[in-house]
Amino acid sequence: QLGVFTYDPGFMSTASCKSAITYIDGEKGILLYRGYPIEQLAKHSSFLEVAYLLMNGELPTEDQLYSFTDEINHHAMLHEALRSFFDGFHYDAHPMAMMVGVMGSLSAFYHSELNMEDPEHRRISAMRMLAKVPTIAAACYRHSAGWPFVYPRVDLGYCENFMNMMFSLPSQKFIGVDQYIDPVAIKALNILFILHADHEQNASTSTVRLASSTGANPYACVAAGISALWGPAHGGANEAVLSMLSEIGSVDRIPEFIARAKDKNDPFRLMGFGHRVYKNFDPRATIIRETCYEVLEKYSNNDPLFELALALEEHALKDDYFIEKKLYPNVDFYSGIIYKALKIPEDMFTVMFVIARTAGWVSHWLEMMAESNHRIGRPRQIYTGYDQREYVAKENR
Ligand code: SDX
Repeated sequence: QLGVFTYDPGFMSTASCKSAITYIDGEKGILLYRGYPIEQLAKHSSFLEVAYLLMNGELPTEDQLYSFTDEINHHAMLHEALRSFFDGFHYDAHPMAMMVGVMGSLSAFYHSELNMEDPEHRRISAMRMLAKVPTIAAACYRHSAGWPFVYPRVDLGYCENFMNMMFSLPSQKFIGVDQYIDPVAIKALNILFILHADHEQNASTSTVRLASSTGANPYACVAAGISALWGPAHGGANEAVLSMLSEIGSVDRIPEFIARAKDKNDPFRLMGFGHRVYKNFDPRATIIRETCYEVLEKYSNNDPLFELALALEEHALKDDYFIEKKLYPNVDFYSGIIYKALKIPEDMFTVMFVIARTAGWVSHWLEMMAESNHRIGRPRQIYTGYDQREYVAKENR
């Protein structure tokens, strides 16, 4: 049960809870959502269908998916009072900072009517967060761009709506909406959101579970998860990959950076490589790699950055250190490249991760809150401080 941690220094891992949502085999590179292989879901499903699966445990029937989608559309709008919340952010605020603030503020909007003991209240809270997160995300971008907010439309799908809220402009003659809800882009977004939807007890999901175990407001707990995801060692890696590629600048400098990544005295790490659990290829990276080539074929505009990324991948996969340490490209290595090709701004890359992972976070929250005997999380530690000692008066120190 939550709170019983086994510390295994050899594997640096802890078993923090029981969950039936996602299964990972790091050695074999297996990832299952409610028993379904991620490869099959990425190939045949949609993000909303996968979100239903994660939240409810089963794939939806046609009618169930229709009702689920209809309810998501119903909750997609933000309360008008929330729009003024954005006025408090300077135009150059990082979108992740705005996401933390706005998601957290929903705990003020929906606090009074929330009865956490009522499964229906919990279900609606989860649906609200899944529905509103793309609207909030797009609003963060519009605020930083100084553009008017665009409302969600019920005639567009989840990914199409997001791209429309991000990029459509009243003066459509400059930027046609259609180019942003192009089938290649929408297919890539659905796959990216499916691959990022859940991943067992990663740092941000564990944060959401630990905060939720105290009975805290779910919107505030998801805001905590957004904070944890922001770090460059976690969800912030996709943004860090593009910064790293810009710093490397050219293929002939790749050996210099590979050497830095191997130098224990240099804090530099190859962003988008390695994983605490996968000691083989991240199955999501394999899938996303194919999507990356499809998207680049249509949108890359021969950007040298993409050639550099593929050359870096080739160098690292052949390097003895990376082979010995089993450091392979992870899901974040390719996602940033795709987002850049889709004209998503770099500081929005981790926000894209938030949209997808909200499905996983709310599913774990629902699972935990449904357990009648769930207990507060209480991690322990290995104490490395002084043995007990006596107080010394100031004059004798
Ligand atoms: C995500 O947990 C999840 O499931 C996360 C995630 C999810 O879906 O939620 O999968 C999403 O966060 C993917 C990871 C994104 N982060 C990055 O790409 C940042 C770069 N990667 C590293 O910072 C690192 O690989 C981590 C943080 C991902 C994992 O760090 P660990 O657990 O310390 O890695 P490890 O124990 O496997 O490291 C083994 C060795 C270590 O060297 P030694 O101490 O044995 O000498 O490999 C080294 C590490 O220093 N190493 C790297 C490296 N990653 C690990 N060296 C250079 N470059 C790297 N990227």
